[in-house]
Amino acid sequence: MSLQLRCLDNRRYSLALVLTLLLLTATPGTSGTSGTSGHSDVAMNITAVLGHSVTFKCPSTHSKPVNGLYIQRMKNDKEVFINGFYKGHPMPVNSEYQNRTKVNEMELSMEMRNISVSDEGLYKCVVFYSTLDKMETMINLKVTAEYSVPTIKKDCIKRNDGSTGESCQLSCSAVGGYPQSTVTWVGLNSSEMSGFYNRNLADNVSETWTINQTIIFNCDQPISVSCAIADAVSYTITICEKESFSLQVIIAIIVVLAFVLLILVIIVMKCCCRRSETRRLEDQVDGADIPLA
Ligand SMILES: *[C@@H]1O[C@H](CO)[C@@H](O)[C@H](O)[C@H]1NC(C)=O
Ligand SMILES: *[C@@H]1O[C@H](CO)[C@@H](O)[C@H](O)[C@H]1NC(C)=O
Ligand SMILES: *[C@@H]1O[C@H](CO)[C@@H](O)[C@H](O)[C@H]1NC(C)=O
Ligand SMILES: *[C@@H]1O[C@H](CO)[C@@H](O)[C@H](O)[C@H]1NC(C)=O
Ligand SMILES: *[C@@H]1O[C@H](CO)[C@@H](O)[C@H](O)[C@H]1NC(C)=O
Ligand SMILES: *[C@@H]1O[C@H](CO)[C@@H](O)[C@H](O)[C@H]1NC(C)=O
Repeated sequence: MSLQLRCLDNRRYSLALVLTLLLLTATPGTSGTSGTSGHSDVAMNITAVLGHSVTFKCPSTHSKPVNGLYIQRMKNDKEVFINGFYKGHPMPVNSEYQNRTKVNEMELSMEMRNISVSDEGLYKCVVFYSTLDKMETMINLKVTAEYSVPTIKKDCIKRNDGSTGESCQLSCSAVGGYPQSTVTWVGLNSSEMSGFYNRNLADNVSETWTINQTIIFNCDQPISVSCAIADAVSYTITICEKESFSLQVIIAIIVVLAFVLLILVIIVMKCCCRRSETRRLEDQVDGADIPLA
């Protein structure tokens, strides 16, 4: 081959490459990549609630007839087939997903039931067309689980620095949520908190989190406090309540007063009775001799 001819050949290849690239970029609305190239960017985020089901909907922007659909899990850089069909035949389903996935050929979608935290991650949808084309879309599945209503606890002691204030240890805790979350204290100035102590645990079976944070807060005035973990909010408690008789002391005083009053009443009644009895006796004794005045 002469040098000139080879040059021409190269130029022809370049032209073909440019044309292909142009065609690829021009494909309308294609979020994944078309053609046979392997990798595509994360195109879709979907969210599932722990224990519920989720539907992976595979986009198909071509109007060409569809030949097949593969849904794969991307795990450690490997592609693991989950479920799908090809030319009207169902594909052998991955046994791990056998009982909880179902493909809808018309909708180009797959339902996955009973979602667990370990289902979180990257998936790939491949739609095959009757031509040699295929369309790949990456789907990122995120799993969420709601936290229980947080429990808020206080343990306050009088400060021994001579002031009238209290030093309160507050703890906030909720269970069963995902992903891991943090505690927000409502009503407290975070720059005045001290002694943060976090004790967060992941359940080793369900992989959900138990969040528990304890803080120290000093105050002189009554403050209403609640705490929030993700979307869950605790009820409100009051710390550093005014130095006054507590309700318990007041109730105790009322009870004692009532008791004293009762005894007094009994004593008075007894006295009266005895006096009227003596008087009646006296009346009987005197009545015979002394005529009515
Ligand atoms: C999907 O979520 C990631 C963050 O996790 C974000 O960067 C990306 O923009 C999201 N994609 C879409 C299409 O919303
Ligand atoms: C799926 O369900 C069938 C029948 O209900 C059962 O025999 C099989 O063990 C299940 N497979 C898995 C992987 O759970
Ligand atoms: C859902 O999955 C969990 C494990 O992830 C399993 O223990 C439970 O039995 C499943 N429930 C149903 C209804 O399949
Ligand atoms: C959170 O941790 C603190 C300190 O360890 C503990 O006193 C408190 O009982 C815990 N709260 C719950 C709800 O477990
Ligand atoms: C929080 O406390 C700091 C230090 O005491 C103070 O400078 C700041 O103004 C307080 N912020 C609010 C919103 O009260
Ligand atoms: C979960 O933790 C408990 C103790 O904390 C342990 O006995 C058990 O084997 C663990 N289970 C798994 C699946 O790792």
